[in-house]
Amino acid sequence: MAARRIAVIVGHPDPAPGRLCRQMAQAYAAGAAEAGHAVRIIDVALIDIPHLRTKADFETGSGQGDIAAAQETLAWAEHWLVVYPLWLGAMPALLKAFFEQVCRPGFAFRYRDKGFPEKLLAGRTAHVVVTMGMPAFAYRWFYFAHSLAALKRNILAFVGVKAVRDTLVGMVDGLDAVKVAALMARMREAGAAAR
Ligand SMILES: Cc1cc2nc3c(=O)[nH]c(=O)nc-3n(C[C@H](O)[C@H](O)[C@H](O)COP(=O)(O)O)c2cc1C
Repeated sequence: MAARRIAVIVGHPDPAPGRLCRQMAQAYAAGAAEAGHAVRIIDVALIDIPHLRTKADFETGSGQGDIAAAQETLAWAEHWLVVYPLWLGAMPALLKAFFEQVCRPGFAFRYRDKGFPEKLLAGRTAHVVVTMGMPAFAYRWFYFAHSLAALKRNILAFVGVKAVRDTLVGMVDGLDAVKVAALMARMREAGAAAR
């Protein structure tokens, strides 16, 4: 398989190395790097992410500092891995703040006089991984995975990134060491396959 350029977005606000999301992202990144893919990591817990407060800032400002660097990585990558824990039914606010900062007009999409905005990040793919306390089937079938659908349709697809895969990991708070090891092996494999 041809080497791909991959951006791993660690969407957990807690920088503790023991967080399952962070471990899964690192396993994926390690598997990808070992297989010869080029990997860059954006860890939302480690970068400066201001809160977007106005439409004017969204439309006329541009990313600065860490946000500009993250935009450069997102544009460079052909494939994104996005990993986050489900918090109050959705992605953590810090990760949403990150997407609000990076997915600005002029970088991620362009308004047109008429019709749907132009998708400036078209051609890229994504794999989204969500961990949660509830069983994964409950989130998918009882809640219709609504926040995952919003990420895929209203953020990723909106800017041209096609979510080709999602992985829901449920009941994570009680995972034993054997299950964690199996999960890490799965993430390594996914990284090696760049999917
Ligand atoms: C603030 C907060 C809100 C949470 N809300 C939910 C929720 O709505 N649904 C759910 O299934 N789990 C919820 N959880 C459990 C987390 O999803 C779970 O602890 C996390 O996925 C574990 O991964 P981590 O080790 O990377 O933090 C919540 C946890 C926290 C801290």
